[in-house]
Amino acid sequence: MKILITGGAGFIGANFCEYELKHHPEDTYLCLDALTYAGNLASLEHVLHQPNFTFIRGDIADRDFVNALFEREKPDIVVNFAAESHVDRSVTDPEVFLRTNIMGTQALMDACRKHGVGRFHQVSTDEVYGDLPLDRPDLFFTEETPLHASSPYSASKASADLLVQAYARTFKLPVSITRCSNNYGPYHFPEKLIPLMITRALADQGLPVYGKGENVRDWLYVEDHCSAIDLVIRKGRAGEVYNVGGHNERRNIDVVKAILRELGKPETLITYVTDRPGHDMRYAIDPSKIHRELGWLPTTTFDEGIRRTVQWYLDNRGWWEAILAGEYQNYYAAMYGQR
Ligand code: NAD
Ligand code: TYD
Repeated sequence: MKILITGGAGFIGANFCEYELKHHPEDTYLCLDALTYAGNLASLEHVLHQPNFTFIRGDIADRDFVNALFEREKPDIVVNFAAESHVDRSVTDPEVFLRTNIMGTQALMDACRKHGVGRFHQVSTDEVYGDLPLDRPDLFFTEETPLHASSPYSASKASADLLVQAYARTFKLPVSITRCSNNYGPYHFPEKLIPLMITRALADQGLPVYGKGENVRDWLYVEDHCSAIDLVIRKGRAGEVYNVGGHNERRNIDVVKAILRELGKPETLITYVTDRPGHDMRYAIDPSKIHRELGWLPTTTFDEGIRRTVQWYLDNRGWWEAILAGEYQNYYAAMYGQR
């Protein structure tokens, strides 16, 4: 089988490329990525030179390019990770989120229709459901929860999900969607909470916690997300949505303290800063459908996952120091300077 992985040079996509090559070496892989600020060929170091893996630089929203690629390569399965993914950036500059996350998804699906692709898989997020209140721990997102986005990022992902479902119904495109909770692990760009806190704590810099740090996220080690997508594209039913999560809810402040403990750094590094506008309070996934239908279960506990993640950042300083030395400095100054 030939599998096209878009956004494969990003955080989850790169982990997925590694996962697939390890577990299904009989298949052929094409990785399409625009290499935006978030894409990094260094994240593909373990797969880039394997004979059944090809990297192609390109934009999923460039229809002519996408069509020519599908014409030439005729993939059997498309897994779409390509996206603008950072909520804070979507607050300062929403437009590119609409272009990539919505128009890009549509361009890919049109090519899938035209070239008879057997499965289009959309990697979505629990953020499409909006948020849950902190005082109702009994509530969880199920696949039936109405879409209710809060940020331009989540609105663009929800729009894409609606389009994917419309293409399934109207054009009978064989699609699937996974909606996963927050991931963490190797190759995570240091604008996101966990790698930002690890890299700053290592430099003894202040750790900017938004608001009171009471917002809750449901954390999943990235490899467990990869195993879920792998199951859905190979065994999941076409036309279905599968929620992915490991029932691992934590307050942001507790995540930051766990990182400090792991690194042996003091809590005095924590600095509370102005909250994110429209900040979602709590995400919590009910993953019972993917467990029931496909037997999926996560295998990495949070304590183990944080330990492995911290160790990865200690062992791979070159990967993230190269990012911090570039344009990232301007990003950090603009995003956090006035907070
Ligand atoms: P990321 O920002 O690390 O990676 C995104 C990748 O897409 C980058 O390599 C980038 O270069 C590429 N890209 C961006 N625009 C492109 C375009 N127009 N054409 C081709 N490539 C383009 O994101 P991530 O955290 O790896 O997330 C991957 C997917 O998973 C996203 O769709 C995101 O919405 C979803 N998701 C993420 C999380 C999470 O916790 N990170 C959780 C659930 C779902
Ligand atoms: P993030 O990693 O951006 O993921 P998302 O917003 O998609 O859930 O943020 C995770 C949580 O951490 C979120 O509640 C916002 C908070 N946060 C901070 O407190 N400080 C930070 O510097 C960042 C980046 C996030």
